[in-house]
Amino acid sequence: MLPGINDKFSESARTMKRSAIREILKLIQKPEMISFAGGLPSPLSFPVEEVKEITTHILETQGAEALQYGTTEGDPLLREMILKRHAGQGLNAKPENLAISTGSQQALDILGKIFIDPGDYVICGLPSYLGGITAFNAYRAKMKGIPFDDKGMRIDLLEEAVQRLTDLGKKIKFIYIIPDFQNPAGITMPEERRLEILEIAERYDLLVIEDSPYRDIRFEGTPQKMVYQLDKSGRVITLCTFSKIFAPGFRVAWLLGHSDIIDKFIMAKQSADICSPVILQKIIAEYMQRGLLEKNMGKTIALYRRRRDLMLECFEKHMPAGVSWTRPEGGLFLFITLPETINADEAFARAVKNNVAFVKGSVFYCNDTGKNTMRINFSYSDDELIEEGIKRLAAVINGMIAEQDNS
Ligand SMILES: Cc1ncc(COP(=O)(O)O)c(C=O)c1O
Repeated sequence: MLPGINDKFSESARTMKRSAIREILKLIQKPEMISFAGGLPSPLSFPVEEVKEITTHILETQGAEALQYGTTEGDPLLREMILKRHAGQGLNAKPENLAISTGSQQALDILGKIFIDPGDYVICGLPSYLGGITAFNAYRAKMKGIPFDDKGMRIDLLEEAVQRLTDLGKKIKFIYIIPDFQNPAGITMPEERRLEILEIAERYDLLVIEDSPYRDIRFEGTPQKMVYQLDKSGRVITLCTFSKIFAPGFRVAWLLGHSDIIDKFIMAKQSADICSPVILQKIIAEYMQRGLLEKNMGKTIALYRRRRDLMLECFEKHMPAGVSWTRPEGGLFLFITLPETINADEAFARAVKNNVAFVKGSVFYCNDTGKNTMRINFSYSDDELIEEGIKRLAAVINGMIAEQDNS
């Protein structure tokens, strides 16, 4: 290590850790590995030909603007297309409620920057998206996790935690939720639960960050209103992204919020990256204007639905008694609960030896629990690999259960 460099790093930099998921992905990069670990869209969902054609069109018709700096708020046509799409879904947001971000991950980071002072509390789910936890930790937030039932964050425990922290004089800034096909748990909050969370947020004057990258990937059931739509007090900030409905490599996302919050967000984004890549925003805007987003998304949803069904079938067929899993109505993930005595860290080590990988659920628990859980992605692997991978994984778990029974 460079001598003395550690003393030069800021306090928050000193406590930063590499993302456990990114580290896992590095560990399992070999061709024979069947990976259910990443949150990767299927390469089959990427509209390569359309992007090729549209890119040429943009360069031919507005090449200079496409290669220039843009406004921090985002490309005008893209903003218009996003607001139009929301209006079609019954959400009438105004231009001052919208900002473009460089992936939702940037939005999480900037929201951390504008809201969190060291020691402030953020409430999140047990489990919750690791990238959210690490973004808020970087601003030295204290994370308070709330356990789930089958409808999402448990309201009784949320209220108890908020009351206790308030009694202790702690400052809670926001509740961080992923209400649609949650990453990692796959759970969707019904409207009633969304309203209950909002009611608590209002009573204790907290903001709500609604992170919603999977909302459009619904296979079945009724779409629930966005928490942003249900809110009447301007306390909800909603993050949406093109990563899962178009292509994560573009790193283009957007957020909706009260104009005062969006205004501050834009000030902070100016020092982060000035603007999101202009040419990429223009390509997406044109793609949307041509009606290709919904068309291609339909194909992606059909593909993921089939893969989810296949994955569930394989679980039914191969998993031993005592293992349970969620049945998500959309999104990219299943969440598995092993018998209490089976440690997913150990299962991970054995699975990797057998060339199958997943993410240990414990990385999604900010309180160091969830040791018997795992997250499985079903969007990325082809059908044959899903079958073979689940067989291998079931064999590992079966083996661990059998060893325990015999000891
Ligand atoms: C809940 C959640 N939020 C944010 C992100 C980051 O999305 P983006 O690719 O737009 O940065 C992800 C990515 O998987 C996610 O699952």
